[in-house]
Amino acid sequence: MQRPPAPAAIPLPARPDLPRHVGIIMDGNGRWARQRHLPRVAGHRAGVRAIRPVMEACHQAGVHILTLYAFSTENWQRPRGEVTALMRLFGETIDREVGELHDNGVQIRVLGDRSALSESLQRKVAQAEALTAGDTAAILNVAINYGGRREIVDAIRELAASRADLSSLDEPAISDALYTRGLPDPDLIVRTAGELRISNFLLWQAAYAELYVTDTLWPDFGEKAIHDALVDYSSRERKFGAIPEPIERIPVHAGSAQRAIRQE
Ligand code: FPP
Repeated sequence: MQRPPAPAAIPLPARPDLPRHVGIIMDGNGRWARQRHLPRVAGHRAGVRAIRPVMEACHQAGVHILTLYAFSTENWQRPRGEVTALMRLFGETIDREVGELHDNGVQIRVLGDRSALSESLQRKVAQAEALTAGDTAAILNVAINYGGRREIVDAIRELAASRADLSSLDEPAISDALYTRGLPDPDLIVRTAGELRISNFLLWQAAYAELYVTDTLWPDFGEKAIHDALVDYSSRERKFGAIPEPIERIPVHAGSAQRAIRQE
């Protein structure tokens, strides 16, 4: 099984009340298109356009890792034409964006079983990961042919194949065998388009993630919407099953985290 390269060192969070890692279930492209009497693929294209402002707003706010759920292991059940269009869109987006992402120091990682992707897409993915492997300003994980259950099964198979002593398996060993190895778990998982489900996304890693669901459809989810999600997160008390420790709360606004880093 091909896996993304191990990530470069992750900076410590600039602000304890902001997430270091945000995962997004980008739902609602189809509904967005239907509302406009457009084909579903037009919704997916609009979905791609929505990514950049959200990424930039996250970066500005000091969120270091963004994980986008682009295609699940279940999405192969969609009509063949839609699957083909989505795969083409992934390839085109990598071709168009990878250079600039690299220039901005963004490390790209693709999470999922890539063996089912076309050879051409696998090549693009591998090249994008290799080009950006040393980039440390931010990490963009794109989950393609990703399933949380499949990821856990793959991890256990990998551990079994490595002849690890499975009777002494512990949680860090499993975390280290997941596609996200080396990365902190998501602090916040955002789902657009209103469904109250996790849909097989980062099942292991989401154990203590805060969930934020908005009715906004993904193509309409922009800078203001992610800002609202971060503000909402910053007001939560994360207990991890224990008694909460008080943390300093500072208003969230673009650039504040960068200033906090520079002041350190
Ligand atoms: C869910 O909306 C969306 C998807 C299954 C695809 C998401 C993909 C993108 C936004 C493109 C991302 C591209 C890159 C390169 C990261 P839906 O079609 O299920 O919407 P619906 O529930 O309204 O029908």
